[in-house]
Amino acid sequence: MSAELKATGSIRRRLSLQLLSNAALLTLLLVFIVRSFAQQLAEQSQDNILMASVTSILDASAIQQGELIVDIPYSAFSMLSNLSDDRVFYRIDKNSVFLTGYDDLPNPASVKNTGSPIFSTEIYQDREIRMVTASRRLALENQPVELRVSVAQTRNGQDQTLEEISRMAMLFGGGFFAISAVLALFSAQSTVGPLRRLASAVSRRGPRDLRPVTDRVPAEMVPLVKSLNQFIERLKISLTRSEDFIAEAAHRVRTPLATVRAQAEITLRRVEKDENRASLKEMIRAIDDSSRAAGQLLDHAMVTFRTDHLEQSQIDLAALVGETVDRLKAVAELKDIDLTYNENDPAKISGDAILIQNAVRNLLDNAIKYSPMDSRVSVELVRQTPWVILSFHDQGLGFPQTGAAGLTKRFARGSNVAGIVGSGLGLTIADEVARAHGGDLKIANNADGVGACVSISFPLS
Ligand SMILES: Nc1ncnc2c1ncn2[C@@H]1O[C@H](COP(=O)(O)OP(=O)(O)OP(=O)(O)O)[C@@H](O)[C@H]1O
Ligand SMILES: [Mg+2]
Repeated sequence: MSAELKATGSIRRRLSLQLLSNAALLTLLLVFIVRSFAQQLAEQSQDNILMASVTSILDASAIQQGELIVDIPYSAFSMLSNLSDDRVFYRIDKNSVFLTGYDDLPNPASVKNTGSPIFSTEIYQDREIRMVTASRRLALENQPVELRVSVAQTRNGQDQTLEEISRMAMLFGGGFFAISAVLALFSAQSTVGPLRRLASAVSRRGPRDLRPVTDRVPAEMVPLVKSLNQFIERLKISLTRSEDFIAEAAHRVRTPLATVRAQAEITLRRVEKDENRASLKEMIRAIDDSSRAAGQLLDHAMVTFRTDHLEQSQIDLAALVGETVDRLKAVAELKDIDLTYNENDPAKISGDAILIQNAVRNLLDNAIKYSPMDSRVSVELVRQTPWVILSFHDQGLGFPQTGAAGLTKRFARGSNVAGIVGSGLGLTIADEVARAHGGDLKIANNADGVGACVSISFPLS
């Protein structure tokens, strides 16, 4: 049963959005700053030229032979000409009385008092103009004369330049935003990278892999990994406890069962009445079942424990199988079974000999157990680099047509077991041993349709 996890958003998406909105904000700020800086610069340069124009007119005016001569130099307006169709206006006043130029041009009054030039932005002839007004004092027949010059210019050129600069700023801003967006996505991806790596390192593990997580993680993730490791440790302790308990329980059950079985056998010899004999036989069968189950549970607990901490030593598989076959020869002979072992090739593998022996014994036990009297069981060892394949053929009923794949599950027994003692753990043990060694268990029926063919493969070392 797995609890359904509810995800509340995604860190990567949240981070990406945050970084993207920051980048957008910075882009807008950049465009705004560039635009206002450019505007300031353009205004400044227009003011400077207007001022130079005013100064050149004021400088060119003079008192000659008792008369005020105002000579507007050519350069005064030529310096204001630019590529755009900006218009230039001027106005000259003598003692606040209009002298020449555009008499309707606005006339800032305060210039008289300050003496310093006045820069102003005005509306003239429905257009925005920039205007500079400055004055100069001259003496005419010992009377002070104030000459005031205003030069103004429309701002079309400046607006055009500004528009150009704004367009460029937008273009650069767009580029800046695009680069920032890519970098933001990259950063978000790399920020969640350690989380993804941790998740995949944990999910890649086998179901029995309870080693603590030792992958390098960023400081922020250390508490998470610490709690995960503490949880794994607690789980490991509780698993070991239950395995120990099974082993202990199986052991404690088996011994008294053996005694009870011996007593039942003795009683069976003495009893003559058919129905009593039948119930005693039933009792012996039940004891055999329980005893087998206890033994298999003990073996399975041991296998589970050892596959968790797999010992890796060099094993001569051919010799190991040979020994197991020899041990079970006596059992095969009880059923007049011809047990043969073909070892064609030497095969060295690396793994836990006790586990492999257990798997081989269970497969051989099945082949003998599910074979009829007076039949053949053959064991074959074949090298198919990089694998070594060990197969067991018998002439029994074979696996049932349906549900054979599920027989490697714990306590699963087939429909073909009629009266044969067993607990449904043999194939489970063999399968777990094969997988712990990086190998595989295959169950099938012989090609000629008679009997089963079970093969277990291990990688060669
Ligand atoms: N050689 C075989 N021929 C036919 N059926 C088999 C063979 N080996 C296994 N089976 C089927 O697969 C089932 C599972 O086998 P498994 O060895 O796991 O359990 P078991 O033999 O019933 O009990 P035990 O735990 O005592 O070995 C068996 O009950 C049987 O139906
Ligand atoms: Mg079995």
